Amino acid sequence: MFKRFRRLRMNENIRAMVSENHLEISDLIYPLFVVEGKKIKKEISSMPDVFQMSLDELLKECKELEKLGIKAIMLFGVLENSKKDSCGSDSLDDEGLIAKSVRAIKEKFPNLIVICDLCFCEYTEHGHCGIIDPKTKSVDNDATLEISAKQALIQARAGADMIAPSGMMDGIIEILRKSLDENGFENLPLMAYSTKFASSFYGPFRDVAQSTPSYGDRKSYQMDFRNGKEALLESLEDELQGADILMVKPALAYLDVVKEISQNSKLPLCVYNVSGEYALLKAGAKAGVIDYQKMVFEIMIAFKRAGAKLIITYHAKELAKMLKEGL
Ligand code: PBG
Repeated sequence: MFKRFRRLRMNENIRAMVSENHLEISDLIYPLFVVEGKKIKKEISSMPDVFQMSLDELLKECKELEKLGIKAIMLFGVLENSKKDSCGSDSLDDEGLIAKSVRAIKEKFPNLIVICDLCFCEYTEHGHCGIIDPKTKSVDNDATLEISAKQALIQARAGADMIAPSGMMDGIIEILRKSLDENGFENLPLMAYSTKFASSFYGPFRDVAQSTPSYGDRKSYQMDFRNGKEALLESLEDELQGADILMVKPALAYLDVVKEISQNSKLPLCVYNVSGEYALLKAGAKAGVIDYQKMVFEIMIAFKRAGAKLIITYHAKELAKMLKEGL
């Protein structure tokens, strides 16, 4: 006797009763890019519907996000080249772009969860994720840890609800936790970019964040995408160091890694559905070769099925609308 799986597939109500994975609006985190100036809302050519915004426009955007029911944003600063230097001073300043922006957002939208990306590539003239060691021309890990602890305090004092270090420096979670705790921020959570691969899927982001390295690549700090066991080690190490949430980035080509981490850690797991993944779908829609909405939704459910709880995604606004209207 064979099993009749089709019995539980006969109509939508019964399918809904036995469906294992669901997408909720509280799963979504929307990335936003802030620039200096006023009345600026500049679309990124490789990422339709994604904008660099000055703070006034960004505040309008937050209002819309609140209406849509989106609960969390991930904030990136995009600095003018003239303000960049060798150690990203603007990000270490209480009056810098990110600090100013976080204060203004939290003042108007106290309930919106503001997660700050903590990195240096958007603030340094060389575009690498930390301080460069002049001898090796590579990022100096421990010197970068020191200034990362400073950047975390700037973000914390500005009112960030969560800090997400994305530079892939060894020991980052331990040092950030220590410095936050010592300064009265023991309740501020850390979301580790714990397993972040050196990936060509970040291409469009580097257009929007203006953070392409001026020489070399990021392979001496981001992970080699050929490695799966190391991916698990990276995440478990961040858990040991005190991370509150783990992350896999990029998402779609790395679902094996997501699954494995979700089975080996009890921490909430986030995926970053990155710029290249978004750009591919937008290009596919424009070419008329895919059913865009259905495909976006299917991919989100795939993240959840693999074990992710949270999804950082440029599709968040579209998904919020889809969830409201029902898909
Ligand atoms: C680094 C950072 C990157 C992304 C998020 N944080 C780029 C990189 O490592 O080069 C990529 C996000 C995306 O592609 O959407 N601050």
